[in-house]
Amino acid sequence: MSQHSLGGELRFSRRAFARSLAVAGAAAWVPGAGSASAEAKPLPVTPSNPNEAFWESVREQFLMPPGLGVMNAANLCPTPLPVVEAQERLTRDMDRDPSFPNRIKLGEGREATRKLLAEFLRVTAGEIVLTRNTSEGNNLVSSGVDLKEGEEVLLFSDNHPSNLDAWKSKSRRFGFGVQIIEQINPHPGDAYYLDTVAKQLTARTRVLAFTHLTSTVGDLLPARELCRMAREKGVLTLVDGAQSLGLIDVNLAEMQPDFYTASAHKWPCGPKEVGVLYINKTAHSRIWPSIISAFPGSTGISKSFESFGQRDEPAIIGFGEALKFQSKIGRKQIEARSRQLCQALIEGLQKIDGVKLWTSTEPTRSHSVVSFLPGNLDIPKLAAALYEKDHIAGAPRPGGQRSGLRFSPHFYNLHSEVDHALAAVRRYMARGV
Ligand SMILES: Cc1ncc(COP(=O)(O)O)c(C=O)c1O
Repeated sequence: MSQHSLGGELRFSRRAFARSLAVAGAAAWVPGAGSASAEAKPLPVTPSNPNEAFWESVREQFLMPPGLGVMNAANLCPTPLPVVEAQERLTRDMDRDPSFPNRIKLGEGREATRKLLAEFLRVTAGEIVLTRNTSEGNNLVSSGVDLKEGEEVLLFSDNHPSNLDAWKSKSRRFGFGVQIIEQINPHPGDAYYLDTVAKQLTARTRVLAFTHLTSTVGDLLPARELCRMAREKGVLTLVDGAQSLGLIDVNLAEMQPDFYTASAHKWPCGPKEVGVLYINKTAHSRIWPSIISAFPGSTGISKSFESFGQRDEPAIIGFGEALKFQSKIGRKQIEARSRQLCQALIEGLQKIDGVKLWTSTEPTRSHSVVSFLPGNLDIPKLAAALYEKDHIAGAPRPGGQRSGLRFSPHFYNLHSEVDHALAAVRRYMARGV
């Protein structure tokens, strides 16, 4: 099984789960039951020093019921109620009257999301392409950059398949070469990445494609420095930001990649099947569109690059609403909150006998993606027990390199959930699953 495949491992029977609740005497909640409150309350103003009570009120903006600790942001985040409601309102409006005149506002809303994304990333709207997800963005780059035999792309072993296997497949088709830098564990420090890339960039290298924050073990790469090094050698950079947008206060004006990709449904907590591909204006002439259809965007590169046919515009507008939601809370506060939860997890896991952490314990080298090997415990069984008995959802990563369990907490998680997860892991490590 691929180290990236997360789906399928967790199969739960509702009846078995309800039984386990009865045994455990836990709160009467069943998967899919939803939260007590189904309407958004006003989001409180973020205090200068937010305490747990503030984050509890943020948590109430989500449909997840109290008692369910989902720490799986690296895979899929919940969407807050104001975004769910906006998307539903627009979908109902569109289906009530799907005429062109009634849909003018949806096209305007799509452009408003582009503008919000540009502000969020500190770039211009003319450099933003609204895609379906990171996979699509990565593939639009690997299919769209003109590469020939004798030229090379430099990659990292922990890149997601959409930024690793996709390049390998296209190298077979178009004849260019790929070089892969092994990611070593634990994160050896930025100097390793800078030195290794400096050595591997050759006169043949045309593209450097890496992951800002890896989904495997949460290694944070020195994106700005890597982009600068590549730029000085005339090498294009693709930064996969699936794990950084919405978590880290990403500043593309500083990072200066040629391409940056991300998905709404991960850390930004937006709708599913909406994503972003940033194309630096200096790279507009270096990439071909791979999909040509109707309904392009109305500014900059989107005019030639975003004619993907009919879109789910309420979802695209929902992406903008999700960005507004995060901005209202404060991006720096979200980044700090997630780091705090992640550090609490790391510190707790370090104290559990038999647990081997894959994630760096050095805070500057990781962020909110925590992977560990739970001794000899059966990983899918452990993940299932954590969900069914303890109502903690992480991501099992059985098989492959650095297998184990992954917790990826975000600002909607609470310290009580982290404590609860740690206590449960400690118990299973001591007594078995
Ligand atoms: C680093 C990275 N890139 C790309 C992807 C693919 O994201 P999506 O499924 O939204 O296309 C993922 C998904 O987990 C990821 O972690």
